[in-house]
Amino acid sequence: MKKIAIIGLGYVGLSLAVAFGEKRDVVGFDINPKRISDLRDGKDLNREVSTEELAGAKGLSFTDSLNSLGNCQVFIITVPTPVDEFKTPDLTPLVNASQSVAKVLKKDDIVIYESTVYPGATEDICVPILERDSGLSFNVDFFAGYSPERINPGDKEHRVKTIKKVTSGSTPEVAVEVDALYADIITAGTHKASSIRVAEAAKVIENTQRDVNIAFMLVLIRLVPLE
Ligand SMILES: NC(=O)c1ccc[n+]([C@@H]2O[C@H](COP(=O)([O-])OP(=O)(O)OC[C@H]3O[C@@H](n4cnc5c(N)ncnc54)[C@H](O)[C@@H]3O)[C@@H](O)[C@H]2O)c1
Ligand SMILES: *[C@@H]1O[C@H](CO)[C@@H](O)[C@H](O)[C@H]1NC(C)=O
Repeated sequence: MKKIAIIGLGYVGLSLAVAFGEKRDVVGFDINPKRISDLRDGKDLNREVSTEELAGAKGLSFTDSLNSLGNCQVFIITVPTPVDEFKTPDLTPLVNASQSVAKVLKKDDIVIYESTVYPGATEDICVPILERDSGLSFNVDFFAGYSPERINPGDKEHRVKTIKKVTSGSTPEVAVEVDALYADIITAGTHKASSIRVAEAAKVIENTQRDVNIAFMLVLIRLVPLE
């Protein structure tokens, strides 16, 4: 069974790392050493994952050293992509994480992105960095995937395992492999999208739908004052 590394242990990354860690070996990596030492002590100071859940993920270990990722074959990137006032995601953390993964990337490895991006960003921005910094060829030596995180901030009921997961891969074979990886932990099931771009677009459309719904409710509240 392939060993997984999760890059960026915020809400999204830690939840995913715990879900995999209940079933198989997974290494969680973060650039924040304090975050790593807290997690090693079994504490999520963000209080998004409980102490019991952390303790239950027997296969999960933590590191802030890139060199410890050398024996992993699947890299899942869950770093932040904060949006600016025009809703354009800042890809700086994603670029930095791609540069880091490129340093430890080997033949036949798969890099899966979960961070929210605009359609095309995985293959147009991230993959060229992986190629350039590793010296390996995309879809020959290494492969990519995209699987958007769909949890809503603050929603305690719908969590990573109970929300259907959209998956994708850079070749048909890799798409099947990525989908199977997630199907193993997501009880709500998976949906294999036809391409990485389609999976990226699915996430953007969902966020837009949510924003439109919120805007629509605000308009309604103004038009129909409560009696
Ligand atoms: N939080 C949510 O509910 C939610 C829901 C859907 C999608 N998303 C998306 O998922 C992604 C992650 O969000 P989050 O809320 O988990 O972020 P977060 O801010 O909670 O955590 C990000 C973590 O990544 C680490 N990090 C930053 N740069 C790094 C790097 N180069 N290498 C390794 N680690 C790095 C940080 O130290 C931090 O611990 C974003 O793209 C976000 O848009 C989040
Ligand atoms: C980029 O990644 C490196 C190596 O993981 C890390 O040491 C550095 O702090 C990161 N820089 C930023 C701006 O995130």
